[in-house]
Amino acid sequence: MSKNLYIKTFGCQMNERDSEIIEQLLAQEGYVATAEPKGADLILINTCSIREKAEQKVFSLLGSLRPEKQKNPKLLLGVTGCVAQQEGEQIRERMPHVDLIVGTQQIYRLPELLDRLSQGVTNKEIATNMEASFSIPPFQKLLNNTSPSLPAAAYGFKRFVTIMQGCDNFCSYCVVPGTRGREISRPMADILEEVEILVSQGVREITLLGQNVNSYGTANQVAEQPVDFPRLLREVAAIKGVQRLRFTTSHPKDLTEELMRCFAEIDNLCPHFHLPVQSGSNAVLRRMNRKYTVESYLEKVELLRRYRPDIALATDIIVGFPGETDDDFQATMDLLNRVRFHGSFSFKYSDRPHTRSAEFGDKIPEEVKSARLAVFQERQDAISFERNREQIGKKVEVMIEGVNETGLKGRSAGNHMVHCSDVVTSLLPGDLATVRIQHAGKHSLKGVLEN
Ligand code: 5AD
Ligand code: SF4
Repeated sequence: MSKNLYIKTFGCQMNERDSEIIEQLLAQEGYVATAEPKGADLILINTCSIREKAEQKVFSLLGSLRPEKQKNPKLLLGVTGCVAQQEGEQIRERMPHVDLIVGTQQIYRLPELLDRLSQGVTNKEIATNMEASFSIPPFQKLLNNTSPSLPAAAYGFKRFVTIMQGCDNFCSYCVVPGTRGREISRPMADILEEVEILVSQGVREITLLGQNVNSYGTANQVAEQPVDFPRLLREVAAIKGVQRLRFTTSHPKDLTEELMRCFAEIDNLCPHFHLPVQSGSNAVLRRMNRKYTVESYLEKVELLRRYRPDIALATDIIVGFPGETDDDFQATMDLLNRVRFHGSFSFKYSDRPHTRSAEFGDKIPEEVKSARLAVFQERQDAISFERNREQIGKKVEVMIEGVNETGLKGRSAGNHMVHCSDVVTSLLPGDLATVRIQHAGKHSLKGVLEN
């Protein structure tokens, strides 16, 4: 008899990809993924600890599941992901109703761990028996064995492909090197094989995924002949059926001119680039251990735009890093006004466990952080709106995401959400359509179909 599996995913794309892998792994054990926790036999919370807020959400959800466990003692409750990796002991203490705690590098062992649990081995014994190990699994096996109850097509025409894991950068505020481990690149042959399988299943857009994809191949590559990221990009782009290619996330220090050239030369590489800068102040960047300066970042942006003038740039910003002065924050605003990012993810700094910056003095009061965040976001919203208005009158290619009786919506190559009121029954999700942009909103564009 099949069992129901509900996974709640917090955090980044890496976690979304891990949840997909977990669904596929457990499908082989007879689990069917459900959209809600009600009636589930196994609930997994795939957690994120990158910022304090994300971690708080995890603990409050775990707490709210306690009555469910009491009502249904057969229900299994597991925690995976970064909080499990880093705060396993704390979860065990604060949430004794949790049956299973599985770190980021152990998800491939979930079937085995569930099996042990069913044999009466306690969570504590399981936990102490988990030696750290790195494995990017044989994806082909994973995909081919996918149970018919969960066809790969269920995930649609856009898919992530993991190309590397972990991070060696040790930014002083960041938990990732601790939770995801050291950087390891997957062999190119495996990546190409996975993309080929996905494309043969109808996938049209591939996003290459890793904490720091542009350093692909520089550390611990599991291959005989090292390959760098631009070479990998060209090889993936050349696979027939890959209509759109994206990648995320990149570190500015590893952005080479060769990678910029890829944006000029590879037709199916989308002109959209997420390049987290974090701060516009050199003093703050130094304490963050980011290993680049504002000047070198700006130079790279300028060169990149020479190679690909229409590139849409997005970034991440942290406000209120320990010791950030009003002048430092103003430098971040100056950078925003110079680059005019198309969009950004901005966060208030929070202390994370076992990070160096947690030990730094001169912490910024909460109300100052909130005020700076509001100033930053207001300006970013205005710039995003201006950037959207620059699209009016342009012809863009849209990959359809949804069609209904009121029209269709999809994404441009530059990652703008585009709405159209044309009703065309022949267009399906994943198809490409040309749209003339007529209106710009703050968060999306509107236009009409063109041939
Ligand atoms: N506090 C606030 N923001 C953080 N980020 C990472 N660690 C922290 C932290 N301790 C942000 C960075 C990163 C994004 C994924 O999360 O901007 O790029
Ligand atoms: Fe964290 Fe820095 Fe690595 Fe990004 S590059 S994952 S911010 S340590």
